[in-house]
Amino acid sequence: MKSVLDAIRTRRSHRSFVPDAELEDWQIENIVKAALWAPSAMHYEVCNIILVRDKETRKELSLATPYALMIENASLAVVLTAKPDESDWWMEDCSAAAENILIEVADMGLGACWVQVREISQELGPEDKVREILGIPEDYRVLCMIAVGLPKKEKKAHTEEEMNRSRVHMERF
Ligand SMILES: Cc1cc2nc3c(=O)[nH]c(=O)nc-3n(C[C@H](O)[C@H](O)[C@H](O)COP(=O)(O)O)c2cc1C
Repeated sequence: MKSVLDAIRTRRSHRSFVPDAELEDWQIENIVKAALWAPSAMHYEVCNIILVRDKETRKELSLATPYALMIENASLAVVLTAKPDESDWWMEDCSAAAENILIEVADMGLGACWVQVREISQELGPEDKVREILGIPEDYRVLCMIAVGLPKKEKKAHTEEEMNRSRVHMERF
């Protein structure tokens, strides 16, 4: 087990996985815990997570956006979805759960990649596709999917040198 900061530093987006490597049940359970223990505004806990191991379903999900191809060869897709009627902070809640998952995955020595689903441009329609594939009700929005698997290659951890400290302000902007 790494320190939390070490897991954050070594976490990278992985897009190339050993195809369909089997994840252990405890690893999936840790992903669930990481998501469910995330903070949520007003403690409303509106973020739902859908765990998709099935290869055929993952293949369909991988085609739901132009930037999701890695999901086909991953081991698991975690889809984060919430009903905006239940909380004005659904996006923040789902993002907090997503980041917790990414850090836990890095800590377990696996790889992951955040895949955008929430529509910014209506033309793409990825939310409709994901809702249809997984039977998510119409009044739920889909923030993202997270591809999880065994990376084919190690990726260089983040370094001190690459940190853009000009974004850091002391006391006032
Ligand atoms: C909100 C958000 C959406 C992202 N969407 C995608 C995506 O659709 N497909 C993808 O391959 N990576 C996606 N990424 C991953 C970023 O490209 C990645 O975090 C960034 O390039 C920095 O690399 P690193 O994660 O290895 O530090 C997304 C990341 C965030 C935070």
